[in-house]
Amino acid sequence: MRPFALRLFAASALGAAALLGCRPMTTPRIPRATTQPGPAPHSFARPDAVRVVHFDWRADLSFAGRAVAGVVDLRLDRADPAAPLVLDTRGLRIEGVEAAGPGAHRHPAAFVLGPKDPVLGRSLTIALDDHDRTVRIQYRADRADGLLWLEPAQTAGKRAPFVFSQAQAILARTFLPCQDTPGVRTTFSAEITVDEDVRVVMAAEDDNDPARRPVDRTYRFHMDAPIPSYLVAFAAGDLAFAELGPRTGVWAEPATLDAARYELADTEAMVRAAEALVGPYRWGRYDLLVLPPAFPFGGMENPRLTFATPTILAGDRSLVSLVAHELAHAWSGNLVTNATWEHLWLNEGFTTYLERRIVEALYGPQRAEMEAHNGLSDLDDSFAHEAKDPALQRLVVDLAGRDPDDGMTNVPYEKGALLLRTLERAAGREAFDGFLRRWFDAHAMTSVTTETFVAFLRERGPEAIRAFDLDPWLYGPGIPAGAARPDPSVFAAIDEAAEAFMSGGRPAEQLPLAQASTQAWLRLLHDLEGRVDARALADLDRAFGLLARDNAEILAAFLELGIRAGYEPAVARAETFLVAVGRRKFLVPIYRALVESGRADTARAIYERARPGYHALSRAGVEAVLAAGAA
Ligand code: BES
Ligand code: ZN
Repeated sequence: MRPFALRLFAASALGAAALLGCRPMTTPRIPRATTQPGPAPHSFARPDAVRVVHFDWRADLSFAGRAVAGVVDLRLDRADPAAPLVLDTRGLRIEGVEAAGPGAHRHPAAFVLGPKDPVLGRSLTIALDDHDRTVRIQYRADRADGLLWLEPAQTAGKRAPFVFSQAQAILARTFLPCQDTPGVRTTFSAEITVDEDVRVVMAAEDDNDPARRPVDRTYRFHMDAPIPSYLVAFAAGDLAFAELGPRTGVWAEPATLDAARYELADTEAMVRAAEALVGPYRWGRYDLLVLPPAFPFGGMENPRLTFATPTILAGDRSLVSLVAHELAHAWSGNLVTNATWEHLWLNEGFTTYLERRIVEALYGPQRAEMEAHNGLSDLDDSFAHEAKDPALQRLVVDLAGRDPDDGMTNVPYEKGALLLRTLERAAGREAFDGFLRRWFDAHAMTSVTTETFVAFLRERGPEAIRAFDLDPWLYGPGIPAGAARPDPSVFAAIDEAAEAFMSGGRPAEQLPLAQASTQAWLRLLHDLEGRVDARALADLDRAFGLLARDNAEILAAFLELGIRAGYEPAVARAETFLVAVGRRKFLVPIYRALVESGRADTARAIYERARPGYHALSRAGVEAVLAAGAA
């Protein structure tokens, strides 16, 4: 804070300047470095004092240098005229900062970077004059953790390089100085230039000719709805587009486009199903971008343009619940946003609940129930591993001083979805659906906390659940009593087959699995965990060709099982899989299986080869597993 006397001086200078009709000649204010997070635990920003409301971004992407050279103009809303602007950065080189008032010339602004925090990065504190309403920052980002630069050889087409961003949770600050908290929403425009003959796409309105690449290699976008920084996203590569429906389509490398178009054919119907549930889709188009296999997640709900892993292209549309999931985020997440990462369940739990409702509408209750069931198994796995700490088993977690990634377990997803399912059963579907819709309408384009939700439930929830005891869910560990668990009978036949196989009573080729769905296979493989030897798995593999599957979910589950049982062909297949695919959810269990089955050296050797193709988030996940193996 500026001392009072200086503020007085500034105020009188302002008065004089108003009389003279020019900018006040104040002494340059030297800002003090911001060293602590603000109201949000993972951001230095003080948006209640000075808030960014819009930005215009120009970025030069250099594949040659794996660098971004950027200029960003920030438009400010200043509630506290004495406060500086505080932004988040990580690994950015700040080359210059200027500020300006309305209609005035830009003037240099004093700034200071705070000390380095390994997770949060460095605050950027910028002194403002009284008139200043915009700030321009010129910067460079080298080796940003929020970007992954790929060589042509790491793409499907092998012809052009590729780069993509992944900003959630707090990586936007590694390529763009911003108030990097989901509690701050901004509109923006962007102009992105590339030094290769590739197309740039962005999660925004696309102002470019889809048929032609501009000669100056500059692509223009804008976003008129206010979005949080974690939803800023772009990619560049050899990309082509195919329509899926009137307002849906898919971008992919030409080599992948046909497979993507086939797999994603139900996308338009999913949008209609979602709208029937929670009201109009408010973002205009809904397109998908299928990324190279290095993409660290299954999907990312970037607005208007979901980013997706190619590992959902199973050839039989059996993994498209991921599309339902990312689409559902257009309501739970993008429209109504968790205000901090401690309330992630408001994004992921609501979304997982809606995902299953969309799957039910399109593919029937049986499939939705199977997916809910498998989700609950994943939750149990989380309780045994990354959410072993009871403090991480709550829906509302305390992440102060921790990496927001620590809270990214199955708990917000599956425990959150289970809570909503439990509320739905108690309220009745019709009443609950009305409530959900009111929730989204009342909080559209705002960022909310769990307290907002609790208050809304108490005031405007269906009568039957207004007084529902949420505390064990929000603040207690495990799964509370009274949870509306999925119906176990959907897997009765599969579980029975698994038992018969494991008891040795039935050889693999006699199991009734020829028509088994992906969901049924995943259940079966889960049933077998820790209970079969290498011979049994060889038998199963011979009968059903599991190591030859293209379905990445089935393959990954079988690899984990095979490695743990010492089935050598699985170890060999794991190596090619781990080098080809960068999706963290698959990598971590497979590396862990290698380490825990006494193959830590093999795991390290594979990682050495595979690492250049992994995103920083995947690297961190794998390195944690390898470190645990070394300990
Ligand atoms: N928003 C998440 C991905 C995410 C969460 C990234 C937290 C960084 C921090 C996305 O919607 C998601 O949940 N993806 C899942 C797929 C889904 C079907 C469960 C994934 O990537 O596996
Ligand atoms: Zn999600």
